[in-house]
Amino acid sequence: MTPETLAKLHDAAFSKDRAWSADEFRALLDSPYCHLSTAQNGFALWRAIAGEAELLTIATHPDHQRQGIGTELMQQWMRTAQDSAGTAFLEVAADNAPATRLYAQFGFEVVARRAGYYKRDDHKVEALIMRAPLPFTVSQKSPGD
Ligand SMILES: CC(C)(COP(=O)(O)OP(=O)(O)OC[C@H]1O[C@@H](n2cnc3c(N)ncnc32)[C@H](O)[C@@H]1OP(=O)(O)O)[C@@H](O)C(=O)NCCC(=O)NCCS
Repeated sequence: MTPETLAKLHDAAFSKDRAWSADEFRALLDSPYCHLSTAQNGFALWRAIAGEAELLTIATHPDHQRQGIGTELMQQWMRTAQDSAGTAFLEVAADNAPATRLYAQFGFEVVARRAGYYKRDDHKVEALIMRAPLPFTVSQKSPGD
């Protein structure tokens, strides 16, 4: 995927947060530490440094969500990351139920919180820092459990 395609898909998927520009994606892709995992209508961008893998962003086009693409992307990046990292972490807005449920299925647990980190129209939302051990295991729990 080109930086322009990534920026378009990111803009379509993130309705509440600032869209990342093609130039921002280009700069990240130029970094030797950043990696891109792709699927049709979705992508995950992550980096691995000093034994830790960080998910920078993940997006599925809104017309194709809830069809297993996010799961496929999580499997892709975590499988690759586990060759060089023993831990995976990420940051997510506390009001992002689809993402937090997806991450929980891959063993991510909240290890820290940043109050008021994400701005919404009339309020602020905390950021959750989530961490999972690698190699990963997929939880068999249903989201509501
Ligand atoms: C988070 C995101 C990548 C998930 O992608 P997806 O392709 O829809 O994911 P999947 O179809 O593989 O869903 C996997 C699980 O995620 C959870 N999930 C996904 N969409 C959900 C929704 N709308 N409501 C509740 N849970 C949801 C469910 O647990 C789901 O498993 P299930 O379908 O067996 O119940 C997608 O919703 C997205 O692009 N959101 C906007 C961008 C974003 O917020 N990215 C994360 C930023 S940290």
